[in-house]
Amino acid sequence: MPRNSRRRFLQQASVAGMAVAAPNILGTLALAQTTAGSAPQPIRVDIDSRRRLAPLDRNLFGSFLEHLGRAIYEGIYDPGSNLSDANGFRKDVLDEVRKLGVPIIRYPGGNFVSGYHWQDGVGPKADRPRVLDKAWNTTDTNQFGINEFLAWSKLAGSQPLLGLNLGTGTPESAAALVEYCNIDKGTRWSDLRRKHGVADPWNVKTWCLGNEMDGPWQIGHMSATEYGEKATDAARQMHYVDPTLKLIACGSSNTNMPTYLEWDREVLEQCYDYVDAISLHRYYDNSKETGGASSKFLALNLTMDKQISEVAAVCDMVRGRRRSPKKLWLSFDEWNVWYRARSGPAVDGNKQTAPHLLEEVYNLEDALLVGGLINSLLRNSDRVRIGCLAQLINVIAPIMTNASGLYRQTIFYPYSWALQYAHGAALEVLVETPPTYDVEGMDPVSYIDVAGTSNPADGSTALFVLNRDLAKPRQLEINWEGQGAGQLVAAVVLTGTDLKASNGFDAPQKVAPQVADKPVTNGNRTKIEVPPRSYSVFQWGKAV
Ligand code: AHR
Repeated sequence: MPRNSRRRFLQQASVAGMAVAAPNILGTLALAQTTAGSAPQPIRVDIDSRRRLAPLDRNLFGSFLEHLGRAIYEGIYDPGSNLSDANGFRKDVLDEVRKLGVPIIRYPGGNFVSGYHWQDGVGPKADRPRVLDKAWNTTDTNQFGINEFLAWSKLAGSQPLLGLNLGTGTPESAAALVEYCNIDKGTRWSDLRRKHGVADPWNVKTWCLGNEMDGPWQIGHMSATEYGEKATDAARQMHYVDPTLKLIACGSSNTNMPTYLEWDREVLEQCYDYVDAISLHRYYDNSKETGGASSKFLALNLTMDKQISEVAAVCDMVRGRRRSPKKLWLSFDEWNVWYRARSGPAVDGNKQTAPHLLEEVYNLEDALLVGGLINSLLRNSDRVRIGCLAQLINVIAPIMTNASGLYRQTIFYPYSWALQYAHGAALEVLVETPPTYDVEGMDPVSYIDVAGTSNPADGSTALFVLNRDLAKPRQLEINWEGQGAGQLVAAVVLTGTDLKASNGFDAPQKVAPQVADKPVTNGNRTKIEVPPRSYSVFQWGKAV
């Protein structure tokens, strides 16, 4: 087969790290499947910096802070602590988030937002009511509200992604919040903001029209048609106030919903013309979903690719039916591993303030899957513009605090690497005939999952490699097409012998990044070996 058509054929057959059913489809091409005793063959990976998917939106790696548990109170806001500044903001937490470089943060929920009245959280603190948050059965003192969040995110260097109450709230109250935040002066709500001591408008650009309104657990849950009409009304009123807003409609809250995709279609039939994007949510589980099998768990990021393509297909179907010139983008604004702290006392605040809720302790294999999920987001970045790791502090979070400090959970590292190394544009990475293993209910799963980015600003290239093989290292042979390899500038890996190992205040570095084995380059070929059970990032500078 001529080289070009062979390449095209392989590209059609292989989607980045996803395996093709190699023995059946590729016939004579050698399959480097490992069998006991045989040395695995290097896996060929073609990189071409000209084959860019789309410019990366920095907001692909955002995060989320909900009024839930100790995320806000005790997490980022703790006026009684000697670690806090004059605003009551925890300085160590703010520094950590600023250093991490989180581009956008969703707030204030989540389930919480569907019963939240934003007016309770503005104005003199002494006058703010203590209210019962019915989503998490928690007492909210309202000492932290919209202005505190917007001031905090500015200090953190993040953009806000504000959620609106479309449960008990009205479209009118949503538009009033836009007026409070974005209009300079001379109207009822903008003048109220000024009276509250905030002279300049915040100019919040991106808004979520409610949260998980398809879920029977959601306060104000309604049918798709009802929600579509309410979202349309809210969007219209909000646009009257500020026509520049970017609005995200609520999509299905997970892929197991009986109404999955049907909800999205019905909602978009109502509000397509008024919104810019639809949301996707998904939490990955290593108990019921996998039976605890690590090899299956590490393949679950492939279900994120599938969810993205299914929701995108619905958007495009509605677009086609409407003959609309507008193409919606996707906001994957809740994703993470979450299955342990998910029931009983872990989700019931017992009417306390700042109770310990959803304090999931993450282990090494959770971090490896988070790495895989980052790869999935990267290779879908032509469609997904916003992604939010849910959440950021204390609640299903990479950063945990107590009264005297903070520590980084295992999942902190792959997330921080995405922020540090993924710049420019995602690449169409071609993994040729990857060795695979079988997982019930899935297509053959590649042991290796590779994503890449190329930054035209400085000519650098980064590769993100998940090795799902629980027993063996894997060798990759990078074939640099169109350019040579530049100088290696970073090689880091997260790995270990114990997939269940986790960090804590007593052992904050038990699972921590290590320097990876240095790749060896010869001409336009680079050899890399990645250890079993690992997630690695390699970065090269501009090729000379
Ligand atoms: O992130 C925790 C919760 O998960 C959010 O409040 C909700 O939107 C989702 O179900």
